Amino acid sequence: MLHKPVLLREVLELLVLNKNGLYVDGTVGTGGHAIAILKTLGEEGRIIAMDRDPQALETARSVLSQYAQKIIFIRDRFSKIHENLTSMNIAEVDGILLDLGMSNPQIQSSGRGFSFLKDEPLDMRMDPDLKLTAKDVVNTYREKELARLLKDFGEEDKAQKIAKAIVHQRKIRKIETSKELAELVARAKNAKYSRIHPATKTFMALRIHINDELSELKIFLESAPRLLTHKGRLCIISYHSLEDRMVKTSFNSLKNHGFQVITKKPIRPSRDEIQENPSARSAKLRIIERS
Ligand SMILES: C[S@@+](CC[C@H](N)C(=O)[O-])C[C@H]1O[C@@H](n2cnc3c(N)ncnc32)[C@H](O)[C@@H]1O
Repeated sequence: MLHKPVLLREVLELLVLNKNGLYVDGTVGTGGHAIAILKTLGEEGRIIAMDRDPQALETARSVLSQYAQKIIFIRDRFSKIHENLTSMNIAEVDGILLDLGMSNPQIQSSGRGFSFLKDEPLDMRMDPDLKLTAKDVVNTYREKELARLLKDFGEEDKAQKIAKAIVHQRKIRKIETSKELAELVARAKNAKYSRIHPATKTFMALRIHINDELSELKIFLESAPRLLTHKGRLCIISYHSLEDRMVKTSFNSLKNHGFQVITKKPIRPSRDEIQENPSARSAKLRIIERS
């Protein structure tokens, strides 16, 4: 199953102001936003499609195949956007989109242990060339380090309890799979199952750590705005309060320095969209424009 693009109508309306422009989709995933953008573009319109996950990029290539002549695919991290554009002699683009987090196929069928509902090896690397896996982290980090990670990246209230349980469990036997970890966390939290699985925050924290997601965003925010042309827009959809705070702070600091904040408050998905696609529920879209 492909990923359902979030806030699609809003992105199209607010990002694509020049139909013959050049756009960067820094998180092309399975190409949901990209194909819709390509459909609205005119004869001269082009997209640079980036993703760090080779599997995602392969899917995007196939989904977007009918537009192949209008797309440049790049397998890289979006923190390297500046280097990549420079290497192609591109100084400015008309718009940039980041849709942070994970795609459905990564969670449901990548076999990399992103989901607490599956029994898969605990890997969690979006880019298979990264060295550190989630299995390394849960089996080698000190209890204090684990607790800090769960607290900082997962905002998990029971971080200490979970870290203790992980360290206790691994003395008996290495933690190998997503299912083992999910069950261990549920036991440690002694949580009644509600709509939200008790291991949700633990899995999110590990994924953010393994993929260095906050540093990726920080580096991107330092370089990407200056790559926009006059009236060019940067749209970022985030799903995590830490990410949204980083985007908000960075956009506010650019105000009156050659940029205008288009979204005073973040744009949220409508009730209908959330009903149709529950994964959209925490999405927040923020936009700036270069003056
Ligand atoms: C929510 S999905 C994007 C879905 C896409 N907008 C669509 O409609 O199909 C996020 C994607 O961003 C990629 N990603 C996450 N962090 C990245 C990074 N730092 N650099 C490049 N790609 C990244 C993931 O591999 C994933 O494919």
